[in-house]
Amino acid sequence: MKVLLLGSGGREHTFAWKITQSKHCEALYIAPGNAGTATLGQNLNISPSDFEAVKEVVLEKKIDMVIVGPEAPLVNGIVDFFKKDEILSHIAIIGPNKKAAQLEGSKAFSKQFMKDMLIPTAAYREFTVDSKEAGLAYIDQHTLPVVLKADGLAAGKGVLICHSNDEAKKEFLAMLDGKFGEASKRVIVEQFLQGIEFSVFVLSDGKNYVMLPEAKDYKRIGEGDTGLNTGGMGSVSPVPFVTNELMEKVEREIVQPTIRGLNKKGILYQGFIFFGLIVVDGNPLVIEYNCRMGDPETQVVFPRLKNDLLDLFQAMHDNELAKIQVEVDQRAAAAVILVSGGYPEAYEKGKEIFGLDQIKNSMVFHAGTKNSGPSTLSNGGRVLAVTSYGEDFKAALKQSYQNVEKISFDGKYYRADIGFDLG
Ligand code: AMP
Ligand code: GLY
Repeated sequence: MKVLLLGSGGREHTFAWKITQSKHCEALYIAPGNAGTATLGQNLNISPSDFEAVKEVVLEKKIDMVIVGPEAPLVNGIVDFFKKDEILSHIAIIGPNKKAAQLEGSKAFSKQFMKDMLIPTAAYREFTVDSKEAGLAYIDQHTLPVVLKADGLAAGKGVLICHSNDEAKKEFLAMLDGKFGEASKRVIVEQFLQGIEFSVFVLSDGKNYVMLPEAKDYKRIGEGDTGLNTGGMGSVSPVPFVTNELMEKVEREIVQPTIRGLNKKGILYQGFIFFGLIVVDGNPLVIEYNCRMGDPETQVVFPRLKNDLLDLFQAMHDNELAKIQVEVDQRAAAAVILVSGGYPEAYEKGKEIFGLDQIKNSMVFHAGTKNSGPSTLSNGGRVLAVTSYGEDFKAALKQSYQNVEKISFDGKYYRADIGFDLG
C-alpha cells in the first residue's frame, strides 16, 4: 500500500514511525513533514490545505491511502473533496467528513450535541452580536471564573478563563468583534469545571469503534501548570488515576452516547475521536471533542499500541472495526517536549540541534524541525518529543529526562515536572 500522510508535527512523525512498521506499507509520503518524517519516507512540499495539490500528488504517486493528521483540512472538508471526486472517491482517506468534524470545528455544534445526547459537560449558553446584551447580562451574574470559547477553530487559542466579570465582559465583546476572526463571531459562555484532565481516543468506522490507550498531556508552559497554554509540553500513558471503573463510566456515559448520537443525527463518523475529559468528584465530563489524534498524546499512545496501524485503518475504511481487538503494551510511555525559548509567544527558528545521535533507549519524535545540509534545525515552537518506555510513568520519565539532557540547541526549554500531579 502506498500511503500519503498529511501534516508536519510530532503527531505526524509518530504516525509515520508506526505506519512504516506496518506489513502493508510499501511507500510513505508526508506532506509537508519535518526532518523526522524525512528519515521514514519522502517529504513533499505541499500544504494539507491545498486540496488540488494533494489530489495531484495522490494521482502522480498512485496513493492508496491518505491519512489526515491535523484538524484544519478535516474541518475544511478534505474528506468530502475526495468523496465527491470521481477519480479520488475510491481512495481510502482516513478522517471524518466536514459535517462529522464539526465536533471539533464548532463548539456550538458540539455543546448542542452533548446537550441533546445527555452527555455530561459544563453548563453553557451561546451568543452572537445579535444577542450581545443578553450575553453581557448572563456574564454579569455568572459565577467565577467564567470560561469563554470561540465557536470555531482558533489554533488552540480560542479558550479564555476569566477571573472577574468585568474582564469576561471585555473579552466577550472583543471576541464578538473578531478577536479570533470569524471563529469568535459566536461565543460560548461556560461554567468553569475544577478537576483533573485526561484524554481518551477512539477510532470509529461509523457504527463500531475501538478504544486506544488513554493519556494525559500538560498544556501550560510553566511548571506546576502555570503560564500560557501551549500545544502540549509533555504526556504520559497510561494515566494512573484512570481506573477500570472510571474508564467503564467514560465508555458508558460518554463514548457510547457519542457514537449513538452521531448515528441518530445521520452523521457518518469515520476517524479518530479525541475526548478531552475532566474528572469532577469522580465523574467524567467532556471539556472538548477533537476530530483527530492529540499532539503530544500520540507520542505516548502509539508506542503502546501493538496493532498494525494500517490494519486498523483498513478495517475502519471497510466498516469492520468490530473484528479488531486492540492490543496494548503494558509498559508506560512518557514524552517530554523540547520547545524554542519564548514559545508560545515569539521565538526564534533555525537553531542547529545537537546530540540527536547520542540518544539511547528513547525515541525522538520531531515536531518543528527541518534539514539543512547535514544539520537539523529548529523550525517551530515545539521542536522535539523525547518518548521512553518504563515499568511505570516515573521510570519512563526518568529515561526521557536523561536523554533530554543530551540534546542541545539555542534557547532550548522544557518542563522538568511532567507527571508532577500523578503521585
Ligand atoms: P481547549 O482549547 O478547548 O482544549 O481548552 C483549553 C483548556 O482550557 C482545556 O484543556 C482546559 O484546561 C481548559 N478548559 C476549557 N474549558 C474548561 C472548563 N469548562 N472548565 C475548566 N477548564 C476548561
Ligand atoms: N494535546 C492537545 C491537543 O492535541 O489538542
